[in-house]
Amino acid sequence: MGAVSDFEDHRLRIVTAGKHEVGVLRWHDRFYAIHNRCPHQSGPVCLGIVSGRLSSQAPGSMEVDEETPVLSCPWHGWEFELERGRALWDPSYAVKMVPVRVESDRVVLEVGRTAG
Ligand code: FES
Repeated sequence: MGAVSDFEDHRLRIVTAGKHEVGVLRWHDRFYAIHNRCPHQSGPVCLGIVSGRLSSQAPGSMEVDEETPVLSCPWHGWEFELERGRALWDPSYAVKMVPVRVESDRVVLEVGRTAG
């Protein structure tokens, strides 16, 4: 897919892999790859915003977990954590994650396989 340095941190880049569009995200030193198809109504989920996961321990307080990227679909706002691709509100819904790895400083997608 390209050299590691071609991928800007915290930015989803959409690439064509076989017959599919896949969003590739560099998040700190980790990479995630997501099929660009939302499980809700097949929207272009990878055109959404990625941020750290928000949580709250008490009313009036909010923390951002920068270790856990969350993708928000631009059509209706469903949010997916990208470790497993599951929707935050109902983990029975999930985006399809594509296995991705770095090999000799290049980003490699394993298209045709589903991330575990
Ligand atoms: S199509 Fe993605 S939230 Fe509806």
